[in-house]
Order: sequence, then structure tokens, then C-alpha cells
Amino acid sequence: MPRANSPSLPRHVAIIMDGNGRWATHRGLPRSAGHKAGIDALRRAVRAAPEQGIEYLSMYSFSTENWQRPKTEVAFLLNLLRRFIKQDLAELHAAGVRIVVIGARSDLEPSLVALLCHAESLTKENIKLTLVIAFNYGAKQELARAAKALAQEAVAGRINPDDITVDRVEQALNTAGMPDVDLLIRTGGEQRISNFLLWQCAYAEFLFMPLFWPDFDGAALQRAIAEFQSRDRRFGGLRAVTA
Ligand code: FPP
Repeated sequence: MPRANSPSLPRHVAIIMDGNGRWATHRGLPRSAGHKAGIDALRRAVRAAPEQGIEYLSMYSFSTENWQRPKTEVAFLLNLLRRFIKQDLAELHAAGVRIVVIGARSDLEPSLVALLCHAESLTKENIKLTLVIAFNYGAKQELARAAKALAQEAVAGRINPDDITVDRVEQALNTAGMPDVDLLIRTGGEQRISNFLLWQCAYAEFLFMPLFWPDFDGAALQRAIAEFQSRDRRFGGLRAVTA
């Protein structure tokens, strides 16, 4: 869909992929089967997004709080990320997808960090879609890291505290250079943001969908975009009056 004819399309869609466990439990399957099916839904979303005019797709794959899950589930999710990158990287690259991984890397195994860096550097010139994989991500932690980096710059005398503006903070975030989130989708029926992209969602439209993430597909994305287009975004101003 050409953007010029569709001014109200969301440029940046962020998704909290919730409901994998319940999807599996309803089928009498282990939770891991839900996460596996979640990868297929992720692939469908990545394919559908550029067809629907989306430029940035941010996917909440593992939160800083997810370490509290049983060790076996954590290990499964870490391995799923590794397998997803290994299996899909060539295809994503051929499709023009740029991969950006956000979150803290310090707790991840060096071989996984190396794989993520490789995926990012291989795809860095791609422009069809930016796929942001939030892994070991927490928005409060991201903001604290940004504050620390800016404080260190100030202490070193490279910036003046008066230079710490909204723009400067944005440059210090993992999403530097990306537009703010236009549409935040959460599947699975819960209505909360769970420490995802708090700064970047300042004026996002929120959409909570009852379906479980493994059931998400291109048609669900299309419904979400239609809902987004029906919203009146005023960004704190007044509704535009047409003569
Ligand atoms: C929430 O469902 C989902 C997660 C914590 C992980 C999301 C992960 C995927 C979709 C696949 C992994 C993707 C990558 C790139 C590794 P839940 O387990 O909280 O479901 P529940 O609320 O029904 O228990």
C-alpha cells in the first residue's frame, strides 16, 4: 500500500506477543509448543507488515522480568531466538528486512550476542522493514541506561546538563533514529504495557486483542490497522477541523 495515498497508516507498530502459554494449554500441549507456534505467528507478522505499509515492527520477545520463569522455559526461549536467527536470517535479508535487537546483552551468552551482532550487521542497509526484536528488554532499564550514559557524558565535560533535551535522551535509547510507536498491539486479552517501550509509546494508540499470539496473522494485522485508522490522534492538540 503506497504511503503517499494512506497518510494515516502507522509507521511503527509494536507488539506484545502474549498468550502462547494459554494457546498451548487449551490444546493440552506444553507451553513450549505455544512459543514454537508463536515463532510462526512472528514470521506471518513480519511478512504482512511491509505489505501493509509498516516500516518498523517491534516485537517483545523476552522481557527482563521473564528470567523469573522456570529455568527450562527460559532456556527454551533463549534457544528459540538462536534458532530463529539461524534459520531465518538469509530469508529475512533477501526480503530486505533490517534486524535490530534491543535490550541488555550483558546477561546473554557470548555466542548468542555474536549471532545477534552478525544479524544486525548483515542486514543494516536493508530498508523494506526494520524488525526490532526486544530481547532481555525492559523499558525502565533502557531509560536508566540512557540516564547513566548522559550523566557520564556530563561528568566527563562533554555535554552540559542543560543540553539534556528530549532529543538527546532519544538518541541515548536503543531505538535512536526510529520514529515513536504509532500503534501498540497486545494479544492475549490482558490490558497492560508490561515495561515495553514506555518512552516510545508516549502517544501510541493502544489496541488489546483477545486472540492468543499463535493465532495472529495478516488478517489480524489488517484489522488492527483499520482500528488505528479510525482513531482520532490529537497529540494533545485539538481535532483538525475541515472546512
Ligand atoms: C508471552 O506468552 C510470550 C512470551 C513471554 C514470549 C514471546 C515469544 C515468542 C512469540 C516467541 C519467541 C520469539 C523470539 C524471537 C525468540 P506467555 O508465555 O506469557 O503466554 P500466557 O500469558 O498465555 O502464559
